Amino acid sequence: AVWAEDAAKTELAKIEESATAAKDADKPADVVAAKDEPIKPIEAAEVKDPAMVELGKKLYFDPRLSKSGFISCNSCHNLSMGGTDNLPTSIGDHWQQGPINAPTVLNSSMNVAQFWDGRAKDLKEQAGGPIANPGEMAFTHELALDVLQSIPQYKDEFKSVFGKDEMDIGMVTDAIAAFEETLVTPDSKFDQWLKGDSKALADNELAGYKLFKESGCVACHNGPAVGGNSFQKMGVVEPYKTDSKAEGMAGLTKKDEDRFKFKVPTLRNVEMTYPYFHDGAAKTLEQAVTTMGQLQLGKKFTDAETADIVAFLKTLTGKQPELQLPILPPSTNDTPVPEP
Ligand code: HEM
Ligand code: HEM
Repeated sequence: AVWAEDAAKTELAKIEESATAAKDADKPADVVAAKDEPIKPIEAAEVKDPAMVELGKKLYFDPRLSKSGFISCNSCHNLSMGGTDNLPTSIGDHWQQGPINAPTVLNSSMNVAQFWDGRAKDLKEQAGGPIANPGEMAFTHELALDVLQSIPQYKDEFKSVFGKDEMDIGMVTDAIAAFEETLVTPDSKFDQWLKGDSKALADNELAGYKLFKESGCVACHNGPAVGGNSFQKMGVVEPYKTDSKAEGMAGLTKKDEDRFKFKVPTLRNVEMTYPYFHDGAAKTLEQAVTTMGQLQLGKKFTDAETADIVAFLKTLTGKQPELQLPILPPSTNDTPVPEP
């Protein structure tokens, strides 16, 4: 189709431009990328309202927000495993196989929008989705509130955080979003290097970073999250072959040029967030890097080059959130019973 070729040409022009710019920069401070957004070190999140974050953490781990009483946010975004489920596509209510890979919640506050197609503008808007999604937690917001309201400790906690007697779903999503905003992973080896510790990266890791920059990966994977800040076509040079029915942004906009445009994933902690791509079809980082080179840039890396890029990507693993598992307040005789 004509539109596909045109789109590919503009994408490539952008990529070439930024790759050229990137070639001139070899000092950490000069890392250049598309839209002039450099890869920058990230810092631990500032906790503005500790009580709200604590409440949000409880809600994040509470399976009673699902119809079965079995599925929590942490089921699919497991904070022991890089904020993902490490499955190609998630398992939801009644063992339903979901349509798409679960992205990590780590550093998700840095995303330009939420979901692969960007259909939620921020974390608060996103958090209402899974509770009522029939394929995920399969509950309703009303029933979730009934559960919370039947538990005196939750009632008290909502009251002290929000100052109101009645709770509503906006408070639930505010609290979950406040907790998610704390899930930032600073201090990766690459961040230490960006901050000037020239010994933080080994030679092969540095060689991988050079390849990442000079080949043009940074055209799309840039900014503090090394991605997450734009929507790009999957399959710029060559089409992506997949069994998945996901259409990317076109599902929302109904525009042909948005077909297979997905949010560029963050590459922070990518070592932990396998398998890769929206369909979870790439099992290893080596596979993902090879596919990216070929489909997005028309490049075939040697095995040694791929190994170096993978070594670099592994330096993006940051300090994981240190969490104390929340103890959830017990249900009461009035709490609606789950429907397994
Ligand atoms: C997407 C948080 C429950 C599976 C997301 C995103 C966030 C998030 C922030 C967007 C990340 C991004 O776009 O980079 C939450 C919270 C939950 C929750 C706070 C609890 C209220 C679940 C559950 C499942 C799940 C229980 C699995 C059954 C997914 C999937 C996506 C996603 C498959 C990608 C969907 C798409 O892009 O179309 N979640 N999640 N989530 N989550 Fe969850
Ligand atoms: C996904 C690396 C170039 C856009 C990914 C993933 C990796 C990666 C590891 C999987 C992340 C995940 O699923 O969590 C690279 C490398 C590149 C490169 C090493 C250079 C060789 C590019 C370029 C673009 C781009 C130039 C934009 C034209 C995307 C998009 C996805 C993605 C849209 C998601 C695709 C999907 O899930 O269908 N990249 N990337 N990447 N990258 Fe790249």
